[in-house]
Amino acid sequence: MPGLYLSELTLSHFRSHKSGRLALDARPVAIHGPNGAGKTNLIEAVSLLSPGRGLRRAAAQDMARRPESLGWKITGLLHSLQRVHEVEILSEEGAARQVRIDEKSATQLALGRIARVLWLIPSMDRLWIEGTEGRRRFLDRMTMSFLPDHGDAALAYEKAMRERNRLLKDQVRDAHWYLALERQMAEAGAQIHANRKHALALIAGAQMQAETAFPTAELELTQTEGEMPEGADDLREALAESRFRDLIAGRTLVGPHRADLYGVYAAKGVPAADCSTGEQKALLVSLILANARALARDFGAPPILLLDEVAAHLDATRRAALYDEICGLGAQAWMTGTGPELFTELGPRAQHVHVTDTDGTSRITSEAP
Ligand SMILES: Nc1ncnc2c1ncn2[C@@H]1O[C@H](COP(=O)(O)OP(=O)(O)OP(=O)(O)O)[C@@H](O)[C@H]1O
Ligand SMILES: [Mg+2]
Repeated sequence: MPGLYLSELTLSHFRSHKSGRLALDARPVAIHGPNGAGKTNLIEAVSLLSPGRGLRRAAAQDMARRPESLGWKITGLLHSLQRVHEVEILSEEGAARQVRIDEKSATQLALGRIARVLWLIPSMDRLWIEGTEGRRRFLDRMTMSFLPDHGDAALAYEKAMRERNRLLKDQVRDAHWYLALERQMAEAGAQIHANRKHALALIAGAQMQAETAFPTAELELTQTEGEMPEGADDLREALAESRFRDLIAGRTLVGPHRADLYGVYAAKGVPAADCSTGEQKALLVSLILANARALARDFGAPPILLLDEVAAHLDATRRAALYDEICGLGAQAWMTGTGPELFTELGPRAQHVHVTDTDGTSRITSEAP
């Protein structure tokens, strides 16, 4: 069956899970178990099967099972459109993560092309009211789901900016040291900006066309100050012009690293930051679902969704609507909650998984609904 889903997941010495194996089909995965059982660890493992540092943004050595701290491995059988790939992510004794696809070393970009994964975790409840970084990261993950090479543009930009910032800190004034770096920043930066706008347009389109129980979020790409120059040439000029100011600040003040995402609860015309906690959450769910619908069209399958404790935060009507939308999309959504009753409405539309931990030994078992 085409689509995007894991049909098998194996964990070895990953966080609280010494060893675990799950056989799956394409249906959503409803995971329940008490606090501390290892539910979030399980979906963190799934998040690592896509580019980046996973949903906790943890360092490789922190994910090694304590106290042994040996190293860890996650293996997934990933069905991606018409193909099936064996994806392996591993870290050997504190070393950086390695990606292997079909038993060969692979890049993050290669992984991003086959694995599109999006998540909502409880700490994102504060996304609309906290600093710009969280919103940028959320936007960039959505962007990456459409355009996997967005990650490479971001890396190229950050690398050149780090070097430019070093020059600024060292109070280097000679223009010729800056030219090549600013050209690299301008090219990657304009790409980043264009990618983000592309993703926002796709998401806005998907929100407009859908009938959904979740509120529409109007999104706008803004800058913490000034305007973002549109193309590479304008950005290069803006960087050159900003040099004097940047020397005083000791860092780069223009560019896509200063972007922000401004959200409005459309039906009320209220900024997301001023909405209730539940409304803010509903806006995020709405965006993730819109992203998933747009990706189903753009890529050919909806992404794998990781929704940590989403069920507990929604009222019964919204929860039922979420389940209906996920099933309608055909997304393999991994959802966690402490009790099985949170997932009863899903019934046989989902596969149910129970996670427990007894005296430091975890068990992951599939259950009948
Ligand atoms: N590297 C590690 N090695 C061993 N155990 C770890 C490691 N990292 C985290 N843990 C433990 O894993 C346990 C399970 O964590 P997890 O966040 O997955 O629980 P959970 O089932 O999601 O619980 P909750 O319902 O409270 O969210 C915690 O007790 C935590 O201390
Ligand atoms: Mg948890």
